[in-house]
Amino acid sequence: MQAPPAFGENLHRLQQLLDEVRAEDLHLVPRGPSAAAAGDGPPWAGVVPPVSYMHICETESFSMGVFLLRSGACIPLHDHPGMNGMLKVLYGTLRIACMDTLPSGAAAAPPPPAAGGGPCLRALFRSRQHYTPASPPCLLSPHTDNLHQIDAVDGPAAFLDILAPPYDPQHGRDCHYYRLLEGPPAGAEPPALPREVWLVETPQAADFWCGGEPYPGPRVCL
Ligand SMILES: [Fe+2]
Repeated sequence: MQAPPAFGENLHRLQQLLDEVRAEDLHLVPRGPSAAAAGDGPPWAGVVPPVSYMHICETESFSMGVFLLRSGACIPLHDHPGMNGMLKVLYGTLRIACMDTLPSGAAAAPPPPAAGGGPCLRALFRSRQHYTPASPPCLLSPHTDNLHQIDAVDGPAAFLDILAPPYDPQHGRDCHYYRLLEGPPAGAEPPALPREVWLVETPQAADFWCGGEPYPGPRVCL
């Protein structure tokens, strides 16, 4: 479906506004290295949620909240079917990997045997970039960068997240998780991007869950 003409203009304006948001605007205090990973794994693993969500507001048109990632935490590869999104890092550093799904039948080769018979999806692994509070917002649309994996790099991190329309399983906007079907790179350098990859849909990882925290910032009046 073609986006209305004002969509691009409004999106650009929202992008500009989000770019100006800082942690202190939302009364967020960056979490220090006390949550840093150590030894064989993060000390919080299995005890407290690796990721927390601060709900700010939600309407039929959009949802807005803050995700807080502990040091070493990861939001596994997932999608946002039919949705637009904007992420702005508030503190810390995130590594965001973005992918597009490709139409079925686009694959030049069959999926690797590691798929284990599960439903496979051909995708274009487009980018993997670091984002900090100095970075512009990271955008996703229904067709571009719709799948992403978000990793906290070198300590805790947080980002403001806007999704439009919001997740709504009753209207086909449910979240699915995926795993990349490929072994570790043969050389020291990761393979160049963009490149085509195979994904397999998976249940939500056992070590990933999202807790809730109260939002300390200004109230949003709708
Ligand atoms: Fe997401």
